[in-house]
Amino acid sequence: MLYIVLWSLALVSCICGENPAIQLALTDKGLQTVRHFAAGVIQDKLDQMELTDVRGHVMGIHYTLSGMHITKLDFPEPEVHFSPPVSGLDLSVSGLSMALTGDWSTHLGAIHDGGTFDMAIFDLSLRSFLGLDRDSSGHPSVSSVYCEVDIQTVNMQFYGGARYTHVLSVEVNPVMSLDLSLSAPPAVDPGSINFGLRGEFYSPESHRDPPFVAPPFSLPVQSTYMLSVGVSEYTANSASFAYYISGHLQALINDSMIPSYCPIRLNTSSMGRFIPQLSQMYPDLLMVLQVYARQTPLFTFQPGFVKLDLLSAIKAFVVQANSTLTPVFKLHLVRRTSRSGLVWFSMQRFNILK
Ligand SMILES: *[C@@H]1O[C@H](CO)[C@@H](O)[C@H](O)[C@H]1NC(C)=O
Ligand SMILES: *[C@@H]1O[C@H](CO)[C@@H](O)[C@H](O)[C@H]1NC(C)=O
Ligand SMILES: *[C@@H]1O[C@H](CO)[C@@H](O)[C@H](O)[C@H]1NC(C)=O
Repeated sequence: MLYIVLWSLALVSCICGENPAIQLALTDKGLQTVRHFAAGVIQDKLDQMELTDVRGHVMGIHYTLSGMHITKLDFPEPEVHFSPPVSGLDLSVSGLSMALTGDWSTHLGAIHDGGTFDMAIFDLSLRSFLGLDRDSSGHPSVSSVYCEVDIQTVNMQFYGGARYTHVLSVEVNPVMSLDLSLSAPPAVDPGSINFGLRGEFYSPESHRDPPFVAPPFSLPVQSTYMLSVGVSEYTANSASFAYYISGHLQALINDSMIPSYCPIRLNTSSMGRFIPQLSQMYPDLLMVLQVYARQTPLFTFQPGFVKLDLLSAIKAFVVQANSTLTPVFKLHLVRRTSRSGLVWFSMQRFNILK
């Protein structure tokens, strides 16, 4: 149940021991909100869940409890706190009651017997310490460091336990996925938990790492906020790089995409007013523009503004009567955004292609 809490934490927020490009800090205020939300989800999930079979033997008689369902469940809101000693969470529930139904069967040698059963458990208390970590591939893992269950007077204790891991890589669209694996084990202090995520966009086809590294950054935690999320320019630039190497940073523009009220048309007669050679060499033909990035566009995050350096080019083609595209000229452009927010393009080069 607590895994659901943790996974929802991991999902709302989000390898290799390198600097995280995305950081999420969940405060106690945020944890309490998730807890409240998770209690409802858990109640619904448990209501529909089929429990795993229980097998054992008593005095040579083998028994199986199977097909167990929860028919009634009263799941009080759990208490959850950050626990720095186990680098995870301290979770407790008290006053949980449930009714179960299922099938039982026993066999002793060739003698088989079976039937159904109803069972009710009242006033169950549970306390569990969950350690949060990452495995070698950066996936978050949750392990039960200590778990104590108390059912009225019956007291059971378990140490150790299963380890659960959850893969966190999100397909953003068919050409790009986001790697949300942990760059380090989550850092827990009494007031918050900080998840450092790899935060790298990549093209599943090429899976090439960008030729730059994530710079270190620190995320200030504000206890009045439930969740703080910091995204570094590495994340934005890895998306740029993934789009660029997969050939998606380009577009074709034709005359039908230019609004009808625009007096300048994408044809050689209209463009011939600016470049006379065009209309002389290719009289009255339609044109197509290919706009593309010449390098990975790079973002720079600075306090209060984001700068984008984009080196782009436009290649113009004449559409011949037989639909062949003949390249005619090329423009190299530089786009820069200044501190004042002004965006400008400057033309670097213009070539007539022959
Ligand atoms: C212009 O491009 C659009 C979108 O690619 C396409 O649907 C349309 O048919 C093209 N028009 C001409 C005249 O080629
Ligand atoms: C080219 O554009 C001009 C307007 O500037 C228009 O009169 C002419 O019909 C267009 N030619 C073609 C081939 O689309
Ligand atoms: C298309 O027309 C152009 C100009 O008339 C010509 O140079 C080219 O060879 C033609 N291409 C094809 C595939 O017919």
